[in-house]
Amino acid sequence: MRIGILTAGGDCPGLNAVIRSVVHRAMAEHGDEVIGFEDGFKGLLDGHYRPLDLNAVSGILARGGTILGSARLERGRLREAAENCRELATRYGIDVLIPIGGEGTLTAARLLSDAGMPVVGVPKTIDNDIHSTDRTFGFDTAVGVATEAIDRLKTTAESHQRVMVVEVMGRHAGWIALESGMAGGAHGICLPERPFEVDKLVKMVRERFERGKKFAVICVAEGAHPAAGSMDYRRGEIDQFGHERFLGIGNRLAAELERRLGTEAKPVILGHVQRGGTPTAYDRVLATRFGWHAVQAAHRGEFGKMTALRGNAVEMVPLAEAVTQLKTVPESRMVEAESVF
Ligand code: F6P
Repeated sequence: MRIGILTAGGDCPGLNAVIRSVVHRAMAEHGDEVIGFEDGFKGLLDGHYRPLDLNAVSGILARGGTILGSARLERGRLREAAENCRELATRYGIDVLIPIGGEGTLTAARLLSDAGMPVVGVPKTIDNDIHSTDRTFGFDTAVGVATEAIDRLKTTAESHQRVMVVEVMGRHAGWIALESGMAGGAHGICLPERPFEVDKLVKMVRERFERGKKFAVICVAEGAHPAAGSMDYRRGEIDQFGHERFLGIGNRLAAELERRLGTEAKPVILGHVQRGGTPTAYDRVLATRFGWHAVQAAHRGEFGKMTALRGNAVEMVPLAEAVTQLKTVPESRMVEAESVF
């Protein structure tokens, strides 16, 4: 079998571990050939690819980013890929394409699959918002980075009697904010799933100060927004990729708290730090498992599906099911954290 593999969308710790796992297991167990397309679907369309053998993937298990490069594809070019997918498979002599990506990539994978390309998807995102899988690799790493940031911010906030507003990633789902906020003991957590009341945050901080705890750390997801009328706030515009460009809730909220409390409030935007660097052991293991299961599914001819973690087992689920909606934080998880506003 000849396998084509690509990484698309935003990068994520663990991508290289999947690539390595696919190459190792496909070569050792099946005698397959693997080629890697560069910069996501662009490489597939433009003919940029390279053979991947054991040497090509040596030493990449712990490396962040992706050795293949990653890019988002414009909608027009995606249509081009779908319309020509049979010809593309023949051109490269591939029997299966393994795209590794988030919701956008998996939606593209579904389109190609529906158009006749044999596809086995692998979900990735630090946001952990892909439906049908309990976890995505990259999430554990991102939560670790954000938790460490909250731990560190607490000590400096306490020394200076300040409020720190730490903004973490998560446009539509607040998993990183929820879990890093819980792990770090953030005094306030704001999620995209529930508009937050600024008055309640102000009251919580005031009460802390009154009982002598003259600092607070608030963990806010980048997609969180205040409840209507609770603060002057305008949602962002939609960019050319169909993504909302956020106007910086961390900055806005810190300024608002400072104004209302009369206490210094500093924003800290963690941004892409959460996505870079070496994956945790958990993410390396999950990525490696997904790689092996993708190869096995390809050999069983189970196309149009993606790997998914269900409980402790890796299963194959239809791409059509996985891309119907995002997995957002349910109320039942919010109540477990004491400080979701
Ligand atoms: O989808 C993952 C994610 O990390 C989001 O949380 C974030 O908003 C987005 O990617 C930013 O990606 P980029 O800056 O690469 O467009």
